[in-house]
This record gives sequence, structure tokens and C-alpha cells, in this order.
Amino acid sequence: MHARGFRTRPSFTGLTGTDTASVARLFVFLALLGGGLLLLLVRGKLVEAVTRQVARVQIPPPPRSLQSLSRTCPVGILGTVPGYKEDLAYIHDEGYVAVAEAGARALIELLCLRGVDRGLVVELGCGSGASSRLLTDAGYDVVGIDASPAMIELARQRAPRASFRIGSLVDARLPRCEAVTALGEVINYVFDQRVSQRRLATLFQCVSQALPPGGIFLLDVAGPVAGASRGWRAGDDWAVLHQTEADEKRRVLTRRIVTFRRIGDAYRRSEEVHRQRLYTPAAMGELLRGVGFRVRIRRNYGDLMLAPNVRAFIATRH
Ligand SMILES: C[S@@+](CC[C@H](N)C(=O)[O-])C[C@H]1O[C@@H](n2cnc3c(N)ncnc32)[C@H](O)[C@@H]1O
Repeated sequence: MHARGFRTRPSFTGLTGTDTASVARLFVFLALLGGGLLLLLVRGKLVEAVTRQVARVQIPPPPRSLQSLSRTCPVGILGTVPGYKEDLAYIHDEGYVAVAEAGARALIELLCLRGVDRGLVVELGCGSGASSRLLTDAGYDVVGIDASPAMIELARQRAPRASFRIGSLVDARLPRCEAVTALGEVINYVFDQRVSQRRLATLFQCVSQALPPGGIFLLDVAGPVAGASRGWRAGDDWAVLHQTEADEKRRVLTRRIVTFRRIGDAYRRSEEVHRQRLYTPAAMGELLRGVGFRVRIRRNYGDLMLAPNVRAFIATRH
């Protein structure tokens, strides 16, 4: 007995109709399997290609001499390297605020020349609030933004009349203001791996839109350097050792920092690795002009000479 409509007539291959249907199903199965494998292979290649592209735009690994240290530093999913933790923030506030203070004095002078002795100043990467304190003492309102919670804690003590937020300058929403600062190579840091020349163009655009005509954006930026260097400094209850290596080709600088800070009767040892992207003055000038600033480039803030590879940019909104 045969099922209805099911024919067993031999075919020209010598197989019955039932055989032919099974073989056809086998062929379809094999074709699907082959297609799936091909798809997986192509996807694998695709993932590999995308990963390679992503890797290309990421910051290169630190020099081998610094690698053991960077392994001990937690790195976030965006490649974010937390910086200026408690002890380094303390040491920065104790011994490294000369640039912030000279920058603030230069800004106050520039604003006074325009007849602006009141109004809001936004400080990107405000650090421990040294410049914010001088600005509030001079009568300005200040909003400071910084990625380091330890820096913000110190800033709140140093400049209680200013207001501070923890956050990345990449996400900053700027209110209307008379001036914006980024003092102390703030925009060079790669604490937030989204910071790139393209992101800076967007940031500069936002700064430009927040300012009135004649408004000032004051920043200093580190440019390319070669080779390696080492140094140290010490205060009453702290010492800091640093070693810097530049990757000239990629224009990235890696600084390994070891700190010692007295806590009670002992010294606490901490380590950080900072990375900075380095931008030529020409590239920075172009970015700033591109979003409507007139730009003057200086090697100093008043009496204070900046490091040889650092330039101050006085950007005035057209
Ligand atoms: C060298 S310190 C300068 C601090 C302060 N402006 C001064 O001159 O004393 C650099 C500061 O930039 C901050 N910073 C770096 N990258 C940042 C980012 N993406 N967003 C906000 N702050 C950032 C750091 O936390 C640090 O406080």
C-alpha cells in the first residue's frame, strides 16, 4: 500500500521517488550547513576587520618599561585611566598650581581690559580649584568641571564660593558665560578615551557658542616632544617621582608617576600612569579658528614661562 499521491516510479538515476526526495532533502541540508559556515566565516572576518579598525584608533600600549605598572592600574571599558587620585591630587594642590594661578591672573587682566569685572567663568579640568579661588576672589562666578573626584573635593575646600561638578569635559553642557578656561594641559589628557582631535573640535564649537562676541577661551596645550625624561620633587610631607616617554610617531606621551605621602608616621606609596595626546600649535590654532575664534599663541602666562613644548592659546570669540 502506498500513501496517496506518493509515487515510487524509478527515476532516471535508478532511484525511486522516495529516494529522490530524501537525497533532495540531504542536499538542501548540506547547502544550508555550507551557507551557515560561510556566513560564520565572513562574520568572523568582519569582526576581525572591525576590531582591527577600533584598535587602530585606540591609544597604543605604554612603552614596555611602563607596562608592569599600567597592569596594576584599573582600566575602564572605554580605556579610561582614572587619574589624580587622592595622593596625587593632594600633591598637585600643594606643589603644582603655579600654571593655574598665572593663567587665572592672565584671564582676569584680559577680562578687565574688556571691561568685564563680573559674570560667569567655566573652568574645564578645574583641578583643585587654585584658579577658581583667584577668580571668585576677583568677583567672578565660577563653575568648575573635573573628572577627578579627589580634585573636586579639594576644589570645594579651596574655592567655597565656586560651584563644582565631577564629570568629563566631553559631556560638559556649557552655560552662557564670559570666559572658559582649560588650564594645565587639560585637553591633552586621555583619562576619557573619547577625547580626540575630532571631539575637541566639537568641544571648541560648544565653547564658542557659550561665549558672547569678545568672550575669551584661555587654554594651554602640550605639543609634540621627543625622547624620555625623569624627575622628582618633594614637599614637607610628600615626594613625587616621574618618568616620561614620548611616542613621537603617534604623538602620545606616557608619564609614570610614583608618589609618597606622609600619613601619620608612615609614607604611603601610590602610582599612576597618565597618557596625553600631543597636538601641534598649528593644529590647535586651526581648530579654534575653525569655530569662530581669533587666536593669539603665547609661551607664557604673565611672568610664568610654560614648559618648552606647551603653548597658551588666547582665543577670543569674533
Ligand atoms: C594638570 S591638571 C590641571 C588642573 C588645574 N586646571 C590646574 O591647573 O591646577 C589636569 C586636570 O584635568 C583633569 N582632566 C583630565 N581629563 C579630563 C576630562 N576628560 N574631563 C574633565 N577633567 C579632566 C584632571 O582630572 C586634572 O584635574
